Amino acid sequence: MTTTGSDWGVRPWVLENLPQFPWVLTRLIALFAAPVEEVDLRVARELIRRDPALVSELLRRANAAAHAPIGRVQSVDHALHVLGLHTVRRIVLTIRLRDYLGSALNHDVLKRCWQHCLACAFSAEQIAQYARLRPDQAYTAGLLHDLGRLALLVNFPKSYADLLGLAASSRQELIAAERALFELDHCELGSCLAIEWQFPDELIRIIAQHHQPAQNGTFSLQHLITLTCRLADQMGFGVAPISLPDEVEEIRDQLPAPACWLLEPGLESFRARVLEQVTEFV
Ligand SMILES: [Fe+2]
Ligand SMILES: [Fe+2]
Repeated sequence: MTTTGSDWGVRPWVLENLPQFPWVLTRLIALFAAPVEEVDLRVARELIRRDPALVSELLRRANAAAHAPIGRVQSVDHALHVLGLHTVRRIVLTIRLRDYLGSALNHDVLKRCWQHCLACAFSAEQIAQYARLRPDQAYTAGLLHDLGRLALLVNFPKSYADLLGLAASSRQELIAAERALFELDHCELGSCLAIEWQFPDELIRIIAQHHQPAQNGTFSLQHLITLTCRLADQMGFGVAPISLPDEVEEIRDQLPAPACWLLEPGLESFRARVLEQVTEFV
């Protein structure tokens, strides 16, 4: 599959009635696509300030991080100073996307998909540091790579949950089942949305192609997300009950040498770190 959403031109029927994506999230994704030093902090502050739920979550976390009496950090500026832009953008994107999923998250299957996205994001962020890639970009791409699945679960919770519950024997079989039921698979649907919501081009490509084998050449963000999606499955954060072979060694072999030590045999400490972070946002 090499197509992206632009090939269809019109919104597929399966995405009709999907709740409007929050404009603040679209703006933040575009803003945070820039390297940390180029992010317009004034715009970021303004966007965050318009969202009271986000402000209170940031203040809560900043106060916890500062080990200070509750209430010491009282402004977005101060929270940015205490937490740093990298952490703030991770919190902002994650909380806002989680809010978008809303009550659908009470459904066990959607919760599993959400945990898969978080595990992929945290794994990608950690590995990116040793792979000459931007950890913040890796986190965003990991969080959003299965956007099409999340959309299907929000729009068709029962039928998509049933589909994911199928006794599929491989990821490709699940993808074929998506096409049979919805005409398009979650990669195609996710990329339609990513184009419509004007995500950065690289992110659109990753959403469209994250189940395709990586091309040889320089290790890219797309390559990383292809691997961390599989790694999330290996760590027990799979979206469906597929019994997969052990792929950890194969995944490790494809990482740049400086990152290989992270995936120690058994993955215990890597998984423990990821689990701790996933738990924060479930
Ligand atoms: Fe996927
Ligand atoms: Fe995935």
